[in-house]
Amino acid sequence: MELQDVLRTTAAVRKFTDEPLPDEVLAEILEVARFAPSGGNRQGARIIVVRDRDTRERLVEITAPGARRYAAQGAVREGPWNPVTPTALTAEQIAATPVPAHLVEPIRTAAALLVVCVDLSAVAATDQLLDRVGLIAGASIYPLAWNILIAARERGYGGTFTTMAVAEEPALKELLGIPDPFAVACVIPLGRPVAEVKKLRRRPVSEFTTLERFDGTPLAD
Ligand SMILES: Cc1cc2nc3c(=O)[nH]c(=O)nc-3n(C[C@H](O)[C@H](O)[C@H](O)COP(=O)(O)O)c2cc1C
Repeated sequence: MELQDVLRTTAAVRKFTDEPLPDEVLAEILEVARFAPSGGNRQGARIIVVRDRDTRERLVEITAPGARRYAAQGAVREGPWNPVTPTALTAEQIAATPVPAHLVEPIRTAAALLVVCVDLSAVAATDQLLDRVGLIAGASIYPLAWNILIAARERGYGGTFTTMAVAEEPALKELLGIPDPFAVACVIPLGRPVAEVKKLRRRPVSEFTTLERFDGTPLAD
């Protein structure tokens, strides 16, 4: 596939065929994905490949609270898990919300799950003293996670970042034996997609790019 086409068609895949994803293919995907950048080139990534059925069921349980909250907030038109506008919902309202199937079924049905972790002692977080949620540490691991998805796409496989389980990170770390100071960036279900990619809906460049200043002239599409 042309790079252009890979970039335009790497969608969030949540439905998979039964086709396995052999270790050799996984190794090929990771072999190219590993060229992702990280702050100071510290390369603090660790990846755990999960296929075991019992581990997956435990992962579904660990994913559920975050997914319930995501769905509950979406249902009342809040921005789910938004750090700027906290939820007005009660813990009871969130607990009473069903877990959306699309947020947990990929954990059961993907050929493999990649749990993408990063060694926090190897990240540079230049925004850590600011009074806002941290972004920069994540930039030392998400490029690798995204490279995995585009390398998988090039080979006809698919998946998506999933992050609901990270809301319960202590349980996740205990389940998989992840020590401190590692953090979990995402869990990526990977496999052969059931359907071909739909056309991705994204904002045009002129809507999010301006010249010279935030309030500058939009960059023409
Ligand atoms: C930081 C991040 C977290 C995400 N978390 C989840 C998740 O927990 N579960 C899930 O199914 N998709 C998750 N996604 C996938 C997004 O929903 C998806 O990328 C977006 O809706 C665009 O989908 P599309 O490429 O198919 O258009 C996440 C994506 C990102 C970038």
